[in-house]
Amino acid sequence: MSQSTTSLVQELQTLRDFIRWAITSFNRHNLYYGHGTDNAWDEALHLVLGSLHLPWDTDQRLLDARLTQLEREKLLELIRRRCEEHTPLPYLLGESWFAGLPFKVDPRVLIPRSPISELIENNFSPWISEAAPPRRILDLCTGSGCIGIACAYAFPTAQVTLTDISEDALEVAEDNIARHHLQDRVFATASDLFSALQGERYDLIVSNPPYVDATDLSLMPDEYRQEPELALAAGEDGLDLVRVILAEARQYLSDQGVLVVEVGNSEEHLQALFPQVPFLWVDFESQARGVFVLTAEQLDEFQADFAAAVNDSSS
Ligand SMILES: C[S@@+](CC[C@H](N)C(=O)[O-])C[C@H]1O[C@@H](n2cnc3c(N)ncnc32)[C@H](O)[C@@H]1O
Repeated sequence: MSQSTTSLVQELQTLRDFIRWAITSFNRHNLYYGHGTDNAWDEALHLVLGSLHLPWDTDQRLLDARLTQLEREKLLELIRRRCEEHTPLPYLLGESWFAGLPFKVDPRVLIPRSPISELIENNFSPWISEAAPPRRILDLCTGSGCIGIACAYAFPTAQVTLTDISEDALEVAEDNIARHHLQDRVFATASDLFSALQGERYDLIVSNPPYVDATDLSLMPDEYRQEPELALAAGEDGLDLVRVILAEARQYLSDQGVLVVEVGNSEEHLQALFPQVPFLWVDFESQARGVFVLTAEQLDEFQADFAAAVNDSSS
């Protein structure tokens, strides 16, 4: 421990001291907030309370409680890593929240933040009717498993398959399945998009695939660079995987099935590529954009266009 850290461990004593010190430190460094908070104050509260296993709504009277030496050393190290290494807070805490549920996260997986959480919390209404809940759900490109696992809560009778090409990510997804005690109906499988799912059919396919285009990738803040590049990069226009998903999804969707895909900023490229397709872009309360819904029927109607786009991109 450096001399200045040794003296800080003695000088900072209470939760209040550490929250204040964290805010000052965050403001002195050029941090980017995009993983659960959007300002130094909230980030400091989350770091200090989260790492001490205290709830977000901790009674304010506790703020003047003194911390043990070990707790003080741990907090200083986390604040240092957040400032100097720009490590995203959920990686420091090993946990992230999605659709009101906790998930284990580490640098093997993207930190959950998909606006699809809002759709899940609304049971995909109006695209899925309460009278006909999906029996089989596929979470394609699952990462931590957050989308598929949250879907399993939303549809308690559904069987859910989580797939990812990354064995590392699947290990985290397996841990999250176990954490939520869903081993009887949520299963994780390695697959390059649909390649390992021959003959399977799903009533709902939901995917947050990699979709960052080359320009956005080159402009990403340091915090995002700590996430797996495999989870983000998707070619020049960000649509390398989305083109294949559109061309192949119909084979794996039941006749009444629904496909939901997040494409974020690559929405513009997608609209330009398929001006004839009436993608239904979801209106989110959170003001997020870039998630479309297509029915099996629409996939049938535009199948030739989707197949042609894959051929054009590979020629
Ligand atoms: C944007 S992350 C999404 C993770 C998670 N669904 C979420 O919303 O937090 C995309 C995921 O797709 C996976 N992936 C990348 N290429 C893939 C491919 N060809 N087939 C399947 N999964 C792939 C990555 O490993 C990563 O976990």
